[in-house]
Amino acid sequence: MRLYIRPFFIAATLLFIAAMAVPVHAQEKTSALMTPELLEKVRKSNNECFACHTEEGVKSPPKTDADMDLVKLRTLVHDPKIFNGSNHGLMECKQCHGTGYSAFPHDADAKKNLSACDECHAVKVMRIEQQFDASVHARNLKDKFTCTTCHSPHIDLIASKLIDPHKIVAQDNRHCLNCHDSDLTFAKFAPDDEKTSLKKTRPDIDTIHEWLPNTRLHWQAVRCVECHTPPTKTLSHEIVDKEKAERKCLSCHSANSSLKTRLYRHLVKEEQEKLGFANSVILSNSYVLGATRHPVLDTLLMIAFGAMVLGLLAHGLGRIISRLIRRRKNRG
Ligand code: HEC
Ligand code: HEC
Ligand code: HEC
Ligand code: HEC
Ligand code: HEC
Ligand code: HEC
Ligand code: HEC
Repeated sequence: MRLYIRPFFIAATLLFIAAMAVPVHAQEKTSALMTPELLEKVRKSNNECFACHTEEGVKSPPKTDADMDLVKLRTLVHDPKIFNGSNHGLMECKQCHGTGYSAFPHDADAKKNLSACDECHAVKVMRIEQQFDASVHARNLKDKFTCTTCHSPHIDLIASKLIDPHKIVAQDNRHCLNCHDSDLTFAKFAPDDEKTSLKKTRPDIDTIHEWLPNTRLHWQAVRCVECHTPPTKTLSHEIVDKEKAERKCLSCHSANSSLKTRLYRHLVKEEQEKLGFANSVILSNSYVLGATRHPVLDTLLMIAFGAMVLGLLAHGLGRIISRLIRRRKNRG
C-alpha cells in the first residue's frame, strides 16, 4: 500500500503547486512587455478620454469652450475598471481610435480612422473570416453583421483568461441573447421576409428550444455556440443553419461528453501550450467532476476526495510520530 501512496502523494503535491502557479504565469505573460512607466503613460492618456466618457464624466464634464451634447455622451460611457481588465485594457484608446478624438470637439472625420480588427490580428482574422463568411449571419445579413456586432472591444476578456466556465458562458451568450432575446435589437438586423416583404419577426428563443428542458438554466450553463457551430477542435465562427444544430442530449450528458472538447477546449489547448501537461490533467479531472452533473455522484466524489486528503495527512502525521518515537528509542 505504501509503495502506491508515496508516488501518489508526490504527484498530488506537484499538481497542487502547478495549479497555484497558473495565475502567476498568466500575469507574467501579459505584463512582461508592459513596464510600470509604459502602463502609467497608457493610463494617463486614457484618463483624458475617461474625463468625459464615464458616468462621472457625464455628471461633471471638464470645462470646454464648445457646447457638449450630454444626452449623446450618456450613451457613450465606458467603465474604466472593465476596460482595464479587458483584452485591450493595456492599450491606449488612440491606438484604435486615432488622434482625431484627442481634442474636443472631435474631428469631423475622426470616425474614419478607426482601426479594423485585422490591422492588428491579421493571422487570426484570416482563419476566422473564412468561418465567419460561411455563417448564417454573414450569408443572410451581409455587411450589417460584422465582428463588433458580437465583440465589444472595450469589455470582452478571452475565455482562457476568464477561466471560470460560468463567466465564459455569460459573456458569450450575452451577445447572442442581446439580439435573439430582444425584439428591438433583432428588428434592426432582421432581413425582409420573402413572402410578405415585411421584416422577419423574431422567433421566440424559448419556444424554439422547447424540446430542451430547463432552457434558461441551459443558457446559464452552456454556450449557444456549443450547439450552433461544428464540433471542431478550436471554436469555429461558422454559425450553421438550424437544421445542423446539436440536438442530442448525450453529446453533453454522458461521461464522455463532447463538452469536454467544446466549452473547455480553449483552456485545455492554451494551458497545454503555455504550461505543458500537468495543468491539462488537473483540468480534465475537474471536467469529469463537472460533466457528471449528478448531485449524488458529485457528493460521493467530494467525500472520496476529502477522505483521500485526510488519509494523506494521517499518513504523513503517522510517519512523523513514528519517527519521533524511533528517535527517542534510539536515544534512550
Ligand atoms: C471634453 C469631453 C470629451 C473628451 C475629453 C473626449 N470625448 Fe469623445 N465625445 C464627447 C462627446 C460629448 C461626444 C458625442 C458628441 C460628439 O460626437 O461630438 C463624443 C464622441 C466620441 C466618439 C464618437 C461616438 C460616435 O459613435 O459618434 C468617440 C469614438 C469618442 N468620443 C472617443 C473619444 C476618445 C478616444 C477620447 C480620448 C482620446 C475622447 N473621446 C475624449 C466628449 C469627449
Ligand atoms: C482594440 C481597439 C479599441 C480600443 C483600444 C478602444 N476602442 Fe473604442 N471602439 C472600438 C471599435 C471597433 C468601436 C466601434 C464598434 C462599436 O460600435 O462598438 C469603438 C467605439 C467606441 C465608442 C462609440 C461607441 C460606444 O460604444 O461607446 C466610444 C465612445 C469609444 N469607442 C471610446 C473608447 C475609449 C474611451 C477607449 C479607451 C479607454 C477606447 N474606445 C478604446 C475599438 C477600440
Ligand atoms: C490597434 C491594434 C488592435 C486592434 C485594431 C484590435 N486589437 Fe485585439 N488585441 C490587440 C492587442 C495588443 C491585444 C493584446 C494581446 C495580448 O495580450 O497578448 C489584443 C487582444 C485581443 C484578444 C484576446 C487575445 C487573443 O489571444 O486573441 C481578442 C479576442 C481580440 N484582441 C479581438 C479583437 C477584435 C474582435 C478586434 C476588432 C474589433 C480587435 N481585437 C482589434 C490589438 C488590437
Ligand atoms: C456571432 C458572434 C461572433 C461574431 C460575428 C464574431 N465572433 Fe469572434 N468570437 C465569438 C465567440 C462566442 C468567441 C469565443 C470567445 C472566446 O474564445 O473568448 C469568439 C472568439 C474570438 C477570438 C478569440 C479566439 C480565437 O479563435 O482566436 C477572436 C480573435 C475573434 N473572435 C475575432 C473575431 C473576428 C475578427 C470577427 C469578424 C470576422 C469575429 N470574431 C466575429 C463570437 C463572434
Ligand atoms: C442544446 C443545444 C442548443 C443550445 C445550447 C442552443 N440551441 Fe439554438 N437550436 C438548437 C437546435 C437543435 C435548433 C433547431 C430547432 C428546430 O429546428 O426545431 C435550434 C434553433 C435555433 C434558432 C433558429 C430559430 C428559427 O427557427 O429560425 C436560433 C435563432 C437559435 N437556436 C438561437 C440560439 C441561441 C441564441 C442560443 C443561446 C442562448 C441557443 N440557440 C442555444 C440547439 C441549441
Ligand atoms: C445583432 C443581432 C444578432 C446577434 C448578436 C446574433 N444573431 Fe443570430 N440571427 C440574427 C438574425 C437577424 C437572424 C435571422 C437571419 C435570417 O432569418 O435569415 C439570425 C439567425 C440565427 C440563426 C438561425 C439560422 C437559420 O438556420 O435560420 C441561428 C442558429 C443564430 N442566429 C444563432 C446565433 C448565435 C448562436 C449567436 C451568438 C453567437 C447569434 N445568433 C448572434 C441576429 C443576431
Ligand atoms: C451542449 C451541451 C448540452 C446539451 C446538448 C444538453 N444539455 Fe442539459 N445541461 C447541460 C449542462 C452543462 C447542464 C448543467 C446545468 C447546471 O447544473 O449548472 C445541463 C442541465 C440539464 C438539466 C438540469 C439538471 C439539474 O441539475 O437540474 C436537465 C434536466 C437537462 N440538462 C436535460 C437535457 C436534455 C433532456 C437534453 C436533450 C434534449 C439536454 N439536456 C441537452 C448541457 C447540455
